[in-house]
Amino acid sequence: MGKVYYVSKNIGLGLLVLVISALVTIIALSIAYDKERAKNQGQPGHRASDGSSTSPPFTTPFTPKEPWDYYRLPKSLIPESYQVTLWPQLQPNADGMYVFTGYSSVIFRCVKETDLIIIHSKKLNFTTVLGNHIILMGLGGVTPPAIRRTWLVERTEYLVVQLRWKLTVGASYKLHSKFTGELADDLQGFYRSEYTDNGVKKVLATSQMQATFARKAFPCFDEPAMKATFNVTLIHDRGTVALSNSKEKDYSDTVKDGVPVRVTTFEPTKTMSTYLLAFLVSEFISIQSSQNHLLIRIWAQRKAIADGQGEYALNVTGPILQFYGKYYNVSYPLSKSDQVALPDFNSGAMENWGLVMYRETGLLYDPTLSSTGNKERIVTIISHELAHMWFGNLVTLQWWNDLWLNEGFASYVEYLGADYAEPTWNMKDYILLYDMQRAFAVDALASSHPLSRKEEEVNEPSEINEMFNTISYSKGAAVLRMLSEFLTEPVFAKGISSYLNTFAFNNTVYEDLWNHLQKVVDKTPGLHVPYSVHEIMNRWTLQMGFPVVTIDTQTGTVSQKHFLLDPSSVVERPSPFNYTWFIPIKWMKNGLDQQQYWLLKKTDVHSSMRVSGEGWVLANTNVSGYFRVNYDANNWARLLSLLNTDHKALPVMNRAQIIDDAFNLARAQIISTTLALKTTKYLSKERDYIPWQSALKNLGYYILMFERTEVYGPLQAYLKKQIKPLFEYFKTITSDWTKVPAGHSDQYNQIDAIGIACGVGVEGCRELIQGWYKQWMENPNQNPIHPNLKSTVYCKAIAFGGAEEWDFAWRMFENASLASEASKLRSAMACTKIPWLLNRYLEYTLDPAKIRKQDATSTIQYIAGNVIGLPLAWNFVRERWSYISQQYGRGLFAFHNLVNGITMRFSTEFELQELKEFKEHHHAGFGSATLAMEQAIEKTTANIKWVTENKAEVLKWFTEETT
Ligand code: BES
Ligand code: ZN
Repeated sequence: MGKVYYVSKNIGLGLLVLVISALVTIIALSIAYDKERAKNQGQPGHRASDGSSTSPPFTTPFTPKEPWDYYRLPKSLIPESYQVTLWPQLQPNADGMYVFTGYSSVIFRCVKETDLIIIHSKKLNFTTVLGNHIILMGLGGVTPPAIRRTWLVERTEYLVVQLRWKLTVGASYKLHSKFTGELADDLQGFYRSEYTDNGVKKVLATSQMQATFARKAFPCFDEPAMKATFNVTLIHDRGTVALSNSKEKDYSDTVKDGVPVRVTTFEPTKTMSTYLLAFLVSEFISIQSSQNHLLIRIWAQRKAIADGQGEYALNVTGPILQFYGKYYNVSYPLSKSDQVALPDFNSGAMENWGLVMYRETGLLYDPTLSSTGNKERIVTIISHELAHMWFGNLVTLQWWNDLWLNEGFASYVEYLGADYAEPTWNMKDYILLYDMQRAFAVDALASSHPLSRKEEEVNEPSEINEMFNTISYSKGAAVLRMLSEFLTEPVFAKGISSYLNTFAFNNTVYEDLWNHLQKVVDKTPGLHVPYSVHEIMNRWTLQMGFPVVTIDTQTGTVSQKHFLLDPSSVVERPSPFNYTWFIPIKWMKNGLDQQQYWLLKKTDVHSSMRVSGEGWVLANTNVSGYFRVNYDANNWARLLSLLNTDHKALPVMNRAQIIDDAFNLARAQIISTTLALKTTKYLSKERDYIPWQSALKNLGYYILMFERTEVYGPLQAYLKKQIKPLFEYFKTITSDWTKVPAGHSDQYNQIDAIGIACGVGVEGCRELIQGWYKQWMENPNQNPIHPNLKSTVYCKAIAFGGAEEWDFAWRMFENASLASEASKLRSAMACTKIPWLLNRYLEYTLDPAKIRKQDATSTIQYIAGNVIGLPLAWNFVRERWSYISQQYGRGLFAFHNLVNGITMRFSTEFELQELKEFKEHHHAGFGSATLAMEQAIEKTTANIKWVTENKAEVLKWFTEETT
């Protein structure tokens, strides 16, 4: 019962068939959708021929029967090269629609007998307009089979060409087609983005192919292993510039359909995957530099480039490329590197080979207006995408089930590249906050899943999209870092290099990487690894979760256990390794680094971990392993006392992780809540950012749970007591907030200090903030607020203020000429405490003229983060769910974040009920947010339990600490 729409029928039905020569067969496609649809026996899930969804989703399970019913391409045809010509129209047509026209041909080889050509195609119209044809040619004198009929399969996104007889194995053919598509503002495939320049509306055409949208630009074998070369031609208005993956070869000016146009052709690309293709036609301008004959350019709106906003990106790109060239021991594979800032972009950035696309906030930096945080985001995101130019682009995983290796790898090495570009920032430490702790949080749930999936488990686009999640990115990064740590970085890098050299321009599976690392291990004398890379890594990638390692320093006993946030939750997923891991443990005793110890069983005795008297043990030095640590009570007590007397004796990452481990062990009822709270007592002396941030995140959980209860008063009082010294410290070193501390992380800590202090009512804070904002309102051209403090100050000032403050922010938002400035205002406007302002703002989020589509879900999420906004946002999302999911559900993490944002405070039976009801009412499922919904239900259940069991103890502790 495939949802098959015939767009042409056999010759007998009288459709246009032309045989031009013995070697060429042409069939014109008709758009006889309606007639043919009747023959499809009323399939569920009908879509109109323009592709818009008009009907309920599938409810009955679908059993594939025909080759075109399967989401995976048959293995009979292998593409070799494409000729693709695209002509985007940047003015609407007579119907007010933006469209593009395309001509493409693909040369493919037949490797298995078949009479079918199945090729991806999505929302492309092969219409009856004169000259729109599907042509099959045989190459090298081969006679092509005549075409019997062609049709489109909407469910699996195919164009199917059925032949009268079989293709010859070993022969090559060329399939030519002409088509049109909509140049929609849907942020996927070949799409349109708009902005204004000096009050003039500008339209540009750009692309986003990952994971399955190349097929929306032209018919192609749209799977990552179907690598080919691409000869791209773009037809565009003469005043615009056309870019693609490779360098421009030449251009000519001509007139097409009465329109004067420029035809730009590009050099053939290297052998590459379709998801890495990119096209851009715009009036953007660029700045450039060159490094060993490599052309590096940064592109953006004219005004942004003229204002110098591309300089920082340009300055760091050269060094980062140089770093990876050395690290991988492979030079940059292409002859140019373009990076573009787009006004509308769904994810943060996309690693198209040679033409990387970013959101404006990911690439554009203004030294006088942007914050340190903006700068850090730019250097790390560039570093991430450029890492992919080799790992992912030159060598590509065969299928999306191994996505974790691609994204996890880039998410790990991005810190190395960023560290090289900004050596004073200690970027490598930040992986703890940005990736490891995030991964620990979701991977401790019973609803988690292993990093690695089987190829057969990932088929449909929504299943592919679901792979882009915290586990793939952050756990992937964490386990690869652990691997690099226990192999040592030089060995790891050598293995990577060997892998890249061997598989250049090809595809791999994750085992290929383990094999190449193993080869280097085998050749490295003196390196002790207890099992093969394969055996060790399987335990981290094929079973979900991670262990908590418990060290008893009285006896030297070391043991491991699967860490679950809710110990009563049932893990339904059996593990091939029984939830045990091979664990590399770096550790310290009494301040001295010890030899790495491998825990290879459930329980072991390592007698050198025994200590007495004042002695202490710290395990997981620099948190190089992906696991939590627990100790016997004595060692905990000694670590706590060390924190209070000489906290710098412990590495900064461990100070942060002790807090995170303790809070989570307490939530899992492994240690007492009081012990966890005690790890925050030393903070009054802590001046480093990472431990503070770790503590604030964990205390943040307490705020989420108790903000609406009587615990909140004493909790605030405690926070106030702890933060005050930090606030005073920064007040002094910044000469009353007139300067900014020099260190990168000090700047972050200053922001936290002000933010928390004002939140809990430290004297002088509110006045300070309101004063600054008022000054700005009085003179909008003179913003006195330091860029680092803007997010906090805007948020607090709007929270303290009323409609006047809000409306001023909205005006500044509309006029902002720097994307990151707009972004700070956009999140700050969610801070108001006034319900009608919040409701009005919610309405704005679904109006693309007010809030760009790319920003809708994150704005709703900000509103849900406000204790007053939460119920409003929850109602809003439930009411509009089908619209939101249809229009806005495509961003990377967009839905995942939205579900998380809304449910993070949920901690009552009533809220749990509401959540479950919501889930049940949406039979359509939640697409890429399915896992997020599961996690939300599990977390809410755990929150309810935790609040019930801990409220009294928490109240007592905070009260005692503050009176
Ligand atoms: N390949 C992804 C972007 C992507 C993901 C596109 C999913 C389409 C679907 C890119 O390399 C990436 O990971 N971008 C991140 C930023 C990065 C610094 C983690 C993003 O967009 O948030
Ligand atoms: Zn990535």
